[in-house]
Amino acid sequence: MKATVITYGCQMNEYDTHLVESQLVSLGLDLVDTIDAADFVLVNTCAVRGKPVDKVRSLLGDLRRQKHERGLVVGMMGCLAQLEEGQQIARKFEVDVLLGPGSLLDIGAALESNQRFWGLQFKDELHEHIPPAPQGKLQAHLTIMRGCDHHCTYCIVPTTRGPQVSRTPASILKELDGLLAAGVQEVTLLGQNVNAYGFDQGAKIAGIPSFADLLRGVGRSGIRRIKFTTSHPMNFTEDVAIAMSETPAVCEFVHLPVQSGSNRVLRRMAREYTREKYLSHIADIKKHLPGVVLATDIIVGFPGETEEDFQHTLDLYDEVGYDSAYMFIYSARPGTPSYQHFTDLPREIKTERLQRLIVKQKEWSQKKNASKVGSIQEVLLRGNAHAEGFLEGHSRGNHPVVVPKALGADTAGVYPVRIGHATPHMLYGAVLGSNGEALPELPRLTPEAAAVSSPLSMV
Ligand code: 5AD
Ligand code: SF4
Repeated sequence: MKATVITYGCQMNEYDTHLVESQLVSLGLDLVDTIDAADFVLVNTCAVRGKPVDKVRSLLGDLRRQKHERGLVVGMMGCLAQLEEGQQIARKFEVDVLLGPGSLLDIGAALESNQRFWGLQFKDELHEHIPPAPQGKLQAHLTIMRGCDHHCTYCIVPTTRGPQVSRTPASILKELDGLLAAGVQEVTLLGQNVNAYGFDQGAKIAGIPSFADLLRGVGRSGIRRIKFTTSHPMNFTEDVAIAMSETPAVCEFVHLPVQSGSNRVLRRMAREYTREKYLSHIADIKKHLPGVVLATDIIVGFPGETEEDFQHTLDLYDEVGYDSAYMFIYSARPGTPSYQHFTDLPREIKTERLQRLIVKQKEWSQKKNASKVGSIQEVLLRGNAHAEGFLEGHSRGNHPVVVPKALGADTAGVYPVRIGHATPHMLYGAVLGSNGEALPELPRLTPEAAAVSSPLSMV
């Protein structure tokens, strides 16, 4: 049997896709790249906003046709699968296998059962499960915890992924050993709220280090680069910034979602911090990590957000000076408190505010990226860029970077790159020659060739 997994959503989902793919391989299935080549298509879903749900709905419609035409077996996993909304969609589109985020290891039982199989339980065995290292990749994700104990009023994740469970350092370090042996150079530690690592349901777990100490421990493993996501301002502590500054492998990059710059909106979101508290974290980060690259998430048009509230978000943006931001229009998700209790703002107000925020983000990203022109960045080049003759990758600060091939590098790897040109979404450069000097010619991309999709603004 040939299988493919289609992934929507966040890096957690990418990690879970890898985990399930490795299960499929150990069950004897062959992984293929396209739906057409597959007998079993598993859709890894996201439920955080309405848009990804719509995408899943339309894909499943297509897959149902193929189910009738050629006997395709269809599966659904991930956050949407855990929700009543997702299960209704699954019934409508005649999904054969449905696995919530806690039931991924049931995939074998599901395929063996030969009838409709729905797994919705949170199984303990998942937490310490170590998937085999990805082969031939320089970058990997490593989940250090699952679930979330916060209850932001807009967010469906605590419902879909359950309460927080931290993994033991022993299993994290064992998984890391496997990644190192497979040649991985950059690991991204994943959790809904990595700063709360070791504090499940608010209680410190004996024998589990703080997140700062975990960073130090991972730093000692010999891995070249460490990133992590996501931090929650409620649980962020200065010792994390200190550990970052003292651990050379940890990249100078912090993604600290603020969601709004207005205390009134933050309260209604139940974010459990104020604008002032947030800014004090940013000050700590800048103090210990000069030159740090800062990213955030912002929701515009939360119910009840006034023009004045929105102005507070815009001026917070200026106060922090973010390098990049993921910007979202508020999406009322059934099952969340804000869906139940608040009235959604008109679409026009939300989109108009998003447009203004995007203008601000572009200005800042252009300014920040332009300041990198002339600098040397350590870039992990993943492989071919969309434009032929170019490689793409990421800096330690998580900037997407594109370089021409055959100027010191024609394969994936970690290289020093002299930056020659910047746009709000991309740095362009050339790999330094082995003598440490920049290569003189820096071929410029045409705008068409440079049109690599921007990861920065998601509506
Ligand atoms: N509407 C819009 N954006 C949302 N996010 C989470 N829930 C919603 C929602 N209901 C955004 C937050 C979070 C990111 C992962 O998705 O900004 O940080
Ligand atoms: Fe949602 Fe808040 Fe948990 Fe993030 S920390 S997943 S925003 S509830």
